[in-house]
Amino acid sequence: MVDLKDFSRDEVDYILKVSENFEPIANGKKRSKMLQGYVLCNMFFEPSTRTRLSFSSAMMRLGGSVTGFASGSVSSASKGESLSDTVRVVENYCDVMVLRSSLEGAARLAADISSKPVINAGDGTRQHPTQTLLDLYTISKEIGTIDGLKVALVGDLKYGRTVHSLSYALTMFDVELSFVSPPELSMPEEVVSDLKAEGLRVETTDDLSHVIESSDVVYMTRIQKERFPDPMEYERMKGAYSIDSTMLEGAKENMIVMHPLPRIDEISTTVDSSPHARYFQQAFYGLVVRMALLSLVLGKWRD
Ligand code: CP
Repeated sequence: MVDLKDFSRDEVDYILKVSENFEPIANGKKRSKMLQGYVLCNMFFEPSTRTRLSFSSAMMRLGGSVTGFASGSVSSASKGESLSDTVRVVENYCDVMVLRSSLEGAARLAADISSKPVINAGDGTRQHPTQTLLDLYTISKEIGTIDGLKVALVGDLKYGRTVHSLSYALTMFDVELSFVSPPELSMPEEVVSDLKAEGLRVETTDDLSHVIESSDVVYMTRIQKERFPDPMEYERMKGAYSIDSTMLEGAKENMIVMHPLPRIDEISTTVDSSPHARYFQQAFYGLVVRMALLSLVLGKWRD
């Protein structure tokens, strides 16, 4: 599970369907030993709260065990060990690896080397496939469909890997996309042309109010401070787009606000109690979808 471009629409639909079965286990209403005896190794070279902890929780809720590291600084990478040597060693200690790295292609490299399944927990600025699956699951569960919707992606569209990953996945669906960002943080041209070549309807705008009124999904993102080569540029861009509850007054009744989190100031806490807010529910669905993925990659799911 490295790149969602390797998956067909039927396969994505299947993962979303399997995921539903894990909700009662994720919320603690049902117990499971499905992955008893299996070990997951988290290899996180970049910070994470949701992805790492939800993979850990998913494994433990299914009866499995978890090892790993939460930062490259506490692994032997800090002594200069290469990723390929790290993977060759760690595969002896687990049944499945979950890898996050700032290096584009790190998960593909690890998957090519490893005899154990590798799940990409985000690499570089392009791919975060498990986030995308939980985003699709959230839309599908909360609205009832993905096809036919208008989805707006707002904020840092240049560096944010969740929006790149989600945009590519949405080419499998019949959706219209709106990109809302400052010009300096716009969606990379090669991504836009890939999406258009796949037949996706895409508009670029800076009119957030109009987009809020016309969209079914407003997907907010954080300005990715850690990816700016120039800290002054970040200072100029931060806070570029943010929403509060008054801005949602003209929204469609069923419009949902999503965010991969963490948020900084893109969504005021006044939105948290709005009927449109779904970002914390979205984080819960991450646990559900990651349970499904672990059961599938370890060959333990039975229809
Ligand atoms: N959405 C997401 O990837 O969050 P974390 O960086 O906390 O894992």
